[in-house]
Amino acid sequence: MDQSLAPSAIRRDETMRALELLLSRQSAGLLQEPAPDGAELDLILDAGLRAPDHGRLRPWRFVLIRGEQRTKWADRLAEAALARDRENGAMMAEKARAWVARTPLIIAVGVEVKAGKIPEIEQLLSGGAAAMNMLSAVHLLGYGGMWVTGANAYDPQVNKWLGFEAPSRLVGFLGVGTPRPMPADAPKMARPLREQHTREWAP
Ligand SMILES: Cc1cc2nc3c(=O)[nH]c(=O)nc-3n(C[C@H](O)[C@H](O)[C@H](O)COP(=O)(O)O)c2cc1C
Repeated sequence: MDQSLAPSAIRRDETMRALELLLSRQSAGLLQEPAPDGAELDLILDAGLRAPDHGRLRPWRFVLIRGEQRTKWADRLAEAALARDRENGAMMAEKARAWVARTPLIIAVGVEVKAGKIPEIEQLLSGGAAAMNMLSAVHLLGYGGMWVTGANAYDPQVNKWLGFEAPSRLVGFLGVGTPRPMPADAPKMARPLREQHTREWAP
């Protein structure tokens, strides 16, 4: 580790500022341009690659969908929705199209699951940790992001179009961009209370 980055060398006020920013993260579903790219996007992807990973499998795979490719991606999602669901497919196809159209950057996060002594769930959790690290980095850089799944994320055909064939699989899509300004009087979502989620173990 670069000694200049050792925790003891980081000034306390910098640490507190970083934590304050981390604790201010919330999902941003309403996005607009611009999305991070270049060096900023590299930082976000590198944050994903800092996820813990049992067995050094390095199972994370990130597929970027942006720019003009989004139209073709929306077509695929629409095709998948129509093939999956005769009753609600058309409605789901339109929903998917609208989401892709208003999302400047989509990071599809997948896990290349390897058979062996590391249980599948640990590999998937590592993919989830990578997704979370990226969401935090998106927020720290001043952008907004939201993790979504839905029926498309569990559809084998959609997984295949992204290059994930069983046992490998998608763990979700990160929608990334610039958060749309919220009206000043918009209600803020209360965060959960620490004490409702934590207890001391007692035998
Ligand atoms: C694995 C996973 C899948 C999710 N899928 C969806 C989804 O498909 N649609 C949705 O509206 N929210 C989904 N969410 C929830 C949002 O990403 C977000 O966490 C939620 O809106 C709460 O906002 P917050 O992150 O600010 O607490 C998902 C979250 C996780 C962890």
